[in-house]
Amino acid sequence: MLGLLAMAHLLQRRAGHPGSRILSVASYRPRTEVGNESVAALIDSSDEWIRRRCGIESRRRAAPDEDLVMMATAAASKALAGAGVDPADVSAVLVATMSHRGRATTAAPLVAEALGATGAAAMDLGAACAGFPYALATADALVRSGAAGHVVLVGAERMTDIIDERDRGTAFLFGDGAGAVVVGPAQTCEIGPVVWGADGSGSELLRYDEAGILRMAGPEVFRWATAIVPDAAGRALQAAGISAADLAAFVPHQANLRIISATAKSLGLGSHVQVATDITTNGNTGAASIPQAMAALPDTTGPALLVGFGAGLSYAAQVVTLP
Ligand code: UT7
Repeated sequence: MLGLLAMAHLLQRRAGHPGSRILSVASYRPRTEVGNESVAALIDSSDEWIRRRCGIESRRRAAPDEDLVMMATAAASKALAGAGVDPADVSAVLVATMSHRGRATTAAPLVAEALGATGAAAMDLGAACAGFPYALATADALVRSGAAGHVVLVGAERMTDIIDERDRGTAFLFGDGAGAVVVGPAQTCEIGPVVWGADGSGSELLRYDEAGILRMAGPEVFRWATAIVPDAAGRALQAAGISAADLAAFVPHQANLRIISATAKSLGLGSHVQVATDITTNGNTGAASIPQAMAALPDTTGPALLVGFGAGLSYAAQVVTLP
């Protein structure tokens, strides 16, 4: 005991920062746009059913040359240029993903190498469709503690690799792509306190089968989401010390337009609040959906409420200041 106490005196603490902020947002969308008709043909569905049940009109599908690392690097590289941060000055690269396949165990070191972020720590973060706000809370903590200076955070998914195109419950829903932000030190807190949680008893509702294909109990996940998303959103507003009226934007995970609309209604969002509906032309891109939807917001600055939710079951929400 005495030894431990004595040792504690030898450890120095890194100087941190009062706050952190998002410096830039960027997105990579695969070249190929796929409409509902061709997806519906394989699952005995229709354009009308897909639009009505989830609001999707089209999604992007990655071509063979658009692998996950390539898409993540493209989004991250654009975000770094937007922030004016040199890759050599990045101290951590975080990749939130649930669809990284291939020989490398983690995607982040490959993304860091492709970016030229040679001095950066690099790790993947697995919290499925809640991955982006989970990773954002991690980046905020790293910067405030002094463990990192600038952090590149990418949500990237190649859902095509983990979806069965003949599965009626998922084939129409998911798309491919990447979204990235650069997080850096700030004098004030521009990334609000995270409200997060998980319920492993629901892990079977979204799971990989023996072949590594994602299977979803859609209606059950829908019911959970419509309860947890408004609750987490309300608690994140409270934790940040603001009200729904103060928001400039609401950017939830783009899982289903009906979940987005129901949450916006339950929060009583005024018409001045930009509600992200990127799902209509992008589908559900898992951990990439929030940064991609942020990048698609038309000229919006000010406070934005982010909420991620999905497999785990996991959720996370926080208020951020848009760059
Ligand atoms: O990103 C991670 C988090 N994920 C989510 O939050 C997704 C949550 N779930 C959902 O968004 C919805 O459950 C879906 C969009 C996936 C499905 O919509 P739904 O309204 O829950 O459909 P359902 O499975 O309850 O099926 C309704 C009806 C059924 O027919 P009956 O029994 O009412 O005659 C299904 O057989 O629609 C039928 N159906 C389909 N019809 C055409 C189910 N899938 C399809 C389909 N095309 N693909």
